[in-house]
Amino acid sequence: MKGLVLSGGRGTRLRPITHTAAKQLVPVANKPILFFVLENLAAASVTDVGIVIAPDTGTAIREAVGDGSTFGIKPTWILQDTPGGLAHAVKVARPFLEDSPFVMYLGDNLIGARVTTYAEEFAAGSAEAKILLKPVDNPSAFGIAAVNGQGQVIRLVEKPRDPPSNLALVGVYFFRPSIHDAIDAIKPSDRGELEITDAIQHLLDSGAEVQARTIEEWWLDTGKKDDLLAANTTVLDSTCESSNAGQVDDASVIQGRVNIADGTVVQNSRIRGPVVIGPDCRIVDSFIGPFTSVGKGTTICGSSIQHAVLMEECRIEGIGRLEDSLIGRGGFVHGNGAGGPLRLSLGDDSEVQV
Ligand code: TTP
Repeated sequence: MKGLVLSGGRGTRLRPITHTAAKQLVPVANKPILFFVLENLAAASVTDVGIVIAPDTGTAIREAVGDGSTFGIKPTWILQDTPGGLAHAVKVARPFLEDSPFVMYLGDNLIGARVTTYAEEFAAGSAEAKILLKPVDNPSAFGIAAVNGQGQVIRLVEKPRDPPSNLALVGVYFFRPSIHDAIDAIKPSDRGELEITDAIQHLLDSGAEVQARTIEEWWLDTGKKDDLLAANTTVLDSTCESSNAGQVDDASVIQGRVNIADGTVVQNSRIRGPVVIGPDCRIVDSFIGPFTSVGKGTTICGSSIQHAVLMEECRIEGIGRLEDSLIGRGGFVHGNGAGGPLRLSLGDDSEVQV
């Protein structure tokens, strides 16, 4: 089975970060989201992986993934000129996919489940497509499936006003080559995109079997800032392990699961996990609270931070309270230590003086 990872798109909901960076490379627990996706595919022995990229962010993604050997995959790069929709991405990838069955995985989705079992089930079964579902509280915001008692999909609707169920499509789909004819048969939606839900609905209308499995584990769509912070919280909570390869002085206190990489210096500070701190950081006279990821080369002085993602090379100085924040690479936030809680979403190389 081949893999198809969708790493193009516009990323409008995650601006300003996505003005200059690919959302699939935004880190969760200091690891780009896309790397979780590639690792999950490799664990399911899906190693021949097409990665769909957009013209403006494709180079950064190619550089980050390299030859794929770190993940145990072999990438084939597929340029999608315009973000014409998920089904459009499959169309563009047709020469790579040939007539192979494939698993399509959205490059900005994180799931707590391993895809191995689902891939094996699909390969051994006869369904033309298989989708993964997860119950959600706000079905009107998602692609939603109506399913019968045998786990077969009856109907799919994109962002329904009147949802037929609360089962949202998780960003992992399994297809046989019949999906290509279905995509050829559909027209762009009102928002001008070729929708994968319309293509699957076309399969259903032509009498094909489409199976569904509801996953028990978490699923996080990292499309917006709050979703991304929720993903950071969930992943830190489930994966962060205590480890200290840095230098922590005697005046500092480390509580709970805190992961400190090499070259990082902690002085006169308190860190309460789960927290991950990348290499070559300086944490001085500060408090870092739970569910915070600090990217490589970041300096935090005289500040208090919690529930935040700081990308690489940030500087936070004299900030009394920074929380629920996403700070892009090279972000600089400084003040005189006073003031109430700050909640920021900053693009790369931004400066905020408080
Ligand atoms: P979406 O989050 O649905 O779309 P988007 O990335 O354009 O973001 P926004 O809605 O905030 O503007 O995309 C899901 C994944 O699929 C994501 O990794 C981007 C990718 N994608 C493509 O590769 N090609 C496309 O044409 C589209 C629409 C998305």
